[in-house]
Amino acid sequence: MSTKTKFQAIKGTRDLLPPETALWNRVEQTAREVFDTFGYGEIRLPIFEATDLFARSIGLETDVVSKEMYTFEDRDETSVSLRPEVTASTCRAYIEHNMQQLPQPVKLYCIGPMFRRERPQKGRYRQFYQINAEILGGPDAPAIDAEVIEMVMTFFERLELQGVQLDINSIGDRNCRPKYVELLRAELLKVKDKLGADSQRRIETNPLRVLDSKLEHEQPIIEKLPQIGDHLCKDCAEHYAAVKHELELRGVKYRENWRLVRGLDYYMRTTFEITARGLGSQNAVCGGGRYDGLVELLGGPPTKGIGFAIGEDRLILSLQESGKAPAAQGRDVYIAWMGENARATAIRAAKNLRNAGFTVELPPVEQKFGKALGQADKLGAKYALILGDNEVSSGEWTLKKLATSEQTKLTEAKLLEYLRKARGVSS
Ligand code: HAM
Repeated sequence: MSTKTKFQAIKGTRDLLPPETALWNRVEQTAREVFDTFGYGEIRLPIFEATDLFARSIGLETDVVSKEMYTFEDRDETSVSLRPEVTASTCRAYIEHNMQQLPQPVKLYCIGPMFRRERPQKGRYRQFYQINAEILGGPDAPAIDAEVIEMVMTFFERLELQGVQLDINSIGDRNCRPKYVELLRAELLKVKDKLGADSQRRIETNPLRVLDSKLEHEQPIIEKLPQIGDHLCKDCAEHYAAVKHELELRGVKYRENWRLVRGLDYYMRTTFEITARGLGSQNAVCGGGRYDGLVELLGGPPTKGIGFAIGEDRLILSLQESGKAPAAQGRDVYIAWMGENARATAIRAAKNLRNAGFTVELPPVEQKFGKALGQADKLGAKYALILGDNEVSSGEWTLKKLATSEQTKLTEAKLLEYLRKARGVSS
């Protein structure tokens, strides 16, 4: 490779730059605040795990495990994979740290990057970010399902996310789902010739996934298929009815969508997805559901579980589309200094102003006043603090308000008070 090669971020990965990162931080901060009010604590998990952890949890036949994981042999020849999600890792950690001994349920959230080798497009990346929350242990009370959903809806409301639509479904459990899947398979075989290649393959591997199809010509066929809601066992039907009731008690508006099956194998009973405005075809900003039995499958005690993951990239896109992007970071004060005497004063002023929470730009080398003021303007500074020999010797500093060119003479002692008042913060 020549030394002139220009490196670029790898396909499906991206650099997140300011000022956009300010929006990412605001979103994450809001998540932390809202989740905290529901009693969740943060868990930070490794970026890679044993490949088997994901294969066993998410399922060998799923797209995520069969096609999309970044897998490599580690030095000791164990197979490891970059995490495509964190539900499996959270369950692994729950078992590893004996969290079943803590007061139940345990409520955990995790924010960070995930990796899936998908075809990149708007809202779909190979490195993307999730805000993930899980409740593990305790009962499978429908109020828990409803509260998890209430929490994510509260979070979206707080962010003023536009066009939020919650879809819910129940996909049954070990009792009733296998019978429904067989019925679905039998019905799909009858119409196999009319389906596309993907759906034909899924009749064998995972007939439920046919319901996910977005192919237009398959829609009328799918609409006539038997619906899971009519085939739930008594316990699942009661659980689902109670979840809806609990949502209504909380004033959470939902739409029932019998085709919402989700793409990961660990789900049972409640599944849900949330879409938002401005996202095109990749419009799911959140997906989740109940996964009782996953902890047991991974070698832990019988444990109930439910959670969700928000696609942070998509959430940010939707917020930007509706004009919620922050402006470029401004500066409160640009210090235009000239002369050796002024340099020391400028350093002291910068320190004091920064300690008081103001954003200050202190040019590293001396500039002519004209150039300094031009630079202050470009950076969107509110004020230029002018410090030259005269100011330093007289102790009278000049503060120029850049929007109006209005100048104020101040002593060092009065500067902070003045700026605080101007910002509307009492000193
Ligand atoms: P998931 O539906 O695979 O569920 O992903 C959740 C969300 O992550 C999606 O709705 C989407 O917003 C975002 N997402 C997924 N793939 C991409 C991608 N390639 N680019 C951008 N965003 C993406 C899970 O991951 C489950 N672990 C959720 C869960 C937690 N269920 C229970 N607990």
